Amino acid sequence: MTAPTEDELHGEFDALIAADQRIEPRDWMPEAYRRTLIRQISQHAHSEIIGMQPEGAWITRAPSLKRKAILMAKVQDEAGHGLYLYSAAQTLGITRDEMTRQLIDGRAKYSSIFNYPAPSWADMGAIGWLVDGAAICNQVPLCRASYGPYGRAMVRICKEESFHQRQGFEILLSLMQGTPAQRAMAQESVDRWYWPALMMFGPPDDASPNSAQSMAWKIKRFSNDELRQRFVGMLVPQAAALGVTLPDPALHFDEEQGRWIMSEIDWTEFHEVLAGRGPLNAERIRNRRDAHEEGAWVREAAAAYAAKKAARTAATGRAA
Ligand SMILES: [Fe+2]
Ligand SMILES: [Fe+2]
Repeated sequence: MTAPTEDELHGEFDALIAADQRIEPRDWMPEAYRRTLIRQISQHAHSEIIGMQPEGAWITRAPSLKRKAILMAKVQDEAGHGLYLYSAAQTLGITRDEMTRQLIDGRAKYSSIFNYPAPSWADMGAIGWLVDGAAICNQVPLCRASYGPYGRAMVRICKEESFHQRQGFEILLSLMQGTPAQRAMAQESVDRWYWPALMMFGPPDDASPNSAQSMAWKIKRFSNDELRQRFVGMLVPQAAALGVTLPDPALHFDEEQGRWIMSEIDWTEFHEVLAGRGPLNAERIRNRRDAHEEGAWVREAAAAYAAKKAARTAATGRAA
């Protein structure tokens, strides 16, 4: 039997995608598909890990024991999301070490939203409601991504994200039922996070060069603008329930066009933050690098322990 040619392999790959079947790590895949997935999944993993910082900084200042416990659980979930996603990326032939290097050397991208500061307690509410809310809109369709390990990781992540969004909504709701100062704090935070959250879906469709290929590969299922529309459609009734105002006076639903009309997004700001000139880019990376270096002894100890255990198993022929 002769080995299949590259063309035959490509044909099998295309047939699997066309039939909505999953591509698994053992399957042949085009190099560009592999590279796209490594880039997307590792950026996604980095976002989860860097995303722990703005909220992690509030754990010691949460206003009650209950709030502290919820926030700690949420930040821990984000660490878990990072780990599932690093594992999914590793099945494509990149090591965890290499991904960590790319992040702490500043070569890797992650979601720009985490380069904004979180100066008030209400930000814990607005981040959960808006940032985790946008993440859900982006991520629910990824549960059906054509690459198996990515899609499966997303299923669990999405379940946890919906809890994150609800806890954020509930923080804002409590503030909105509080004193005038608390209501003002909630509104001020929504004003700051609304536009950056809309930017999380990426540039408009006509300026998003990689989208078409990702959609053809069934990694991405909806365009940036479609997802942004969905998100705004979800926010409007929730904002009304909260009693907050979304900071876009032009926002309304156009019955004839069947879509939300919104003001122009400030893409200059988006590109500045993406290029590393956001309010906190340098600090976020520095914190991550410090944490990695300070954690070296834990990794060494774990490796030494694993080696000792493996040696004992080899000597006795059974697991220690
Ligand atoms: Fe997450
Ligand atoms: Fe989350």
